Amino acid sequence: HLNPMEKNECCSLRVGNCRSKGGASGFKVAILGAAGGIGQSLSMLMKMNPLVSVLHLYDVVNTPGVTADISHMDTAAVVRGFLGQKQLEDALIGMDLVIIPAGVPRKPGMTRDDLFNINAGIVKTLCEAIAKCCPKAIVNLISNPVNSTVPIAAEVFKRAGTYDPNRLLGVTMLDVVRANTFVAEVLGLDPREVDVPVVGGHAGVTILPLLSQVKPPCSFTPKEIVYLTERIQNGGTEVVEAKAGAGSATLSMAYAAVKFADACLRALRGDAGIIECAYVDSKVTELPFFASKVRLGRGGVEEFFPLGPLNDYEREGLEKAKKELAVSVEKGISFARK
Ligand code: NAD
Ligand code: LMR
Repeated sequence: HLNPMEKNECCSLRVGNCRSKGGASGFKVAILGAAGGIGQSLSMLMKMNPLVSVLHLYDVVNTPGVTADISHMDTAAVVRGFLGQKQLEDALIGMDLVIIPAGVPRKPGMTRDDLFNINAGIVKTLCEAIAKCCPKAIVNLISNPVNSTVPIAAEVFKRAGTYDPNRLLGVTMLDVVRANTFVAEVLGLDPREVDVPVVGGHAGVTILPLLSQVKPPCSFTPKEIVYLTERIQNGGTEVVEAKAGAGSATLSMAYAAVKFADACLRALRGDAGIIECAYVDSKVTELPFFASKVRLGRGGVEEFFPLGPLNDYEREGLEKAKKELAVSVEKGISFARK
């Protein structure tokens, strides 16, 4: 693997007691797609996370440079780089958490589903290696279309005999982050004080913010409800259009991914009361996968929260979301079973 520090004789002489080796405690985290737009910022932010002792950066391009760069940060996590398919298994052995932002992003005019043909195969290959090398790891799946890639990952793990539905989480945190931001703007609050549950999935109408359940309790006019719901559902497209062909959200996504990964790591450590929204294997609705509030613990998802009372607008949104989600889930499952 590509660990610039381990190439250096002076460091390796003292590696047994060198602080830069990282503490004995802490978690081992791999990022697959680490050299990409999300991957680079995510790698930097995970290097800053005190819960991480070892950080493996894997991509099919550019990991030597990204690894050299990030490894100079004076934080405890030891960084190692892995380049190309031949090094994928080494990147994964022993990992507690695997975060996957690998795959192509949207350009203006595309839907997330338009990414399926390329990203489905990428996710399948990466998950086959996870099943082989770190079957007990928590997986945070970011690659789009999340509504289909999570069912693909589940099928791959089932086929390998390693599937633990509680350990596979589709990352919808960016929808929550956006919802908190936009709602705070309307209410004139600090976004850090706002908590908006966002359920369903991660594409268009499947993104369903439950504005009737915002904390702190508040009320919106019908106009505000339509504005906020549509803005949250189109947040990704807003960024894709503003970037005008240069990709989709990377910086806010890296922030959201780290917020979510940190919640998973705190849960793995045994912290109580970690509740986040995620797209998971679920019995909250009749659909096999659904995003909702879940409680995270040492085993991954440990409790599912019901959707709670919905108003007419949200009930209508839920029906639209379920219709589209059912198609996306089926598309993922049939791809993986082929
Ligand atoms: P990017 O093109 O900048 O980076 C993707 C990286 O994946 C590249 O470095 C590429 O080399 C790498 N990659 C490609 N094939 C790979 C493979 N087989 N193994 C390992 N790495 C591989 O794209 P980005 O902007 O970082 O977006 C990545 C993905 O995340 C896209 O699918 C995008 O739609 C998705 N995304 C999801 C959310 C979400 O909320 N879940 C938010 C933003 C973006
Ligand atoms: C997002 O919500 O920003 C991501 O899913 C990327 C995209 O294509 O919109």
